[in-house]
Amino acid sequence: MADTGTPAVTGTDTGKGSDGSLPDLAVTGSTGQLGGLVASILADAGHPQRLLVRDAARAPDLQGAVPVVSAYADPVLAKSSLEGVRTLFMVSASEAEDRLQTHFAFVDAAAAAGVRHLVYTSFFGASADCTFTLGRDHYATEERIRASGLDYTFLRDNFYLDFLPLLAGDDGVIRGPAGDGVMAAVSRGDIARCAAAVLRDPAVHTGRTYHLTGPEDISLERAAQLLTEGTGRNISYHNETVKEAYASRASYGAPAWQVDAWVSTYTAIANGELAGPTSDVHGLTGREPQGLDDFLKEAHHP
Ligand SMILES: NC(=O)c1ccc[n+]([C@@H]2O[C@H](COP(=O)([O-])OP(=O)(O)OC[C@H]3O[C@@H](n4cnc5c(N)ncnc54)[C@H](OP(=O)(O)O)[C@@H]3O)[C@@H](O)[C@H]2O)c1
Repeated sequence: MADTGTPAVTGTDTGKGSDGSLPDLAVTGSTGQLGGLVASILADAGHPQRLLVRDAARAPDLQGAVPVVSAYADPVLAKSSLEGVRTLFMVSASEAEDRLQTHFAFVDAAAAAGVRHLVYTSFFGASADCTFTLGRDHYATEERIRASGLDYTFLRDNFYLDFLPLLAGDDGVIRGPAGDGVMAAVSRGDIARCAAAVLRDPAVHTGRTYHLTGPEDISLERAAQLLTEGTGRNISYHNETVKEAYASRASYGAPAWQVDAWVSTYTAIANGELAGPTSDVHGLTGREPQGLDDFLKEAHHP
């Protein structure tokens, strides 16, 4: 296994050019869910790709994919892993107090390595003062990318539909201060199909921001009904006050920035900042996005 930005080829090395060069399309996050789906769609479509991973042993074994060890927060390793890359798919890093600095380091490494086009997974409604606190970090990352001089495409993903079943506690209750606000949650599968469409032909999408949503606005009350019908588990929604939301999460012992992020996920819904279905998934993929009912049917009866 390589421990530097040198290739750590597993399985076939068909992703390499006849001169031994690495693919000029790089995909991050392939050991995770969204990046893994994107890498798999690209491999199925016959696209060679470089999988930038922190641990080569965990890279998915895909035809035409060459794992290369990299890390957002290690500028030297990141830059060497990105040499010769033309198009980079950057999945936002896992939540951490220093995530923004980590993103900045990786964007800077991409620019220093001569990457041409960066496709970044941002968040719906990202802005300097949006209610969802992590949405502000996504916006700051977008700004860093804009300032870098790289060509870019931003995928501003709404809340994952896939996450909704996980919001309910052991007692089946989804608790949060979302009021009767609604959101246009989108499935990871739809986001991955959009990302793959952009990565297959990036020049067409230069400078574009896509607002990726599901087909409809749903409240947490409605989500609880659909989850009950779709999973057989009795799920309900309890509308907390903001004070109750902080109190009910206090026992987790999480740092303040994390609790602020959790609570503001709900207050962003209450404020209407995750509402408003768009046609962007259809525009990029040619198919209607999944709603929660379709998503649950597929998850339980694939
Ligand atoms: N829209 C939403 O509702 C929503 C919800 C949750 C998360 N997100 C964001 O969307 C991203 C992708 O979602 P997901 O479901 O695919 O998450 P996931 O399954 O946790 O995968 C995250 C991927 O990013 C990689 N990664 C994380 N931090 C990194 C770093 N500092 N340097 C290099 N690689 C790093 C991970 O690598 P390792 O395997 O090495 O850890 C993993 O491959 C998340 O990371 C998060 O930022 C969005």
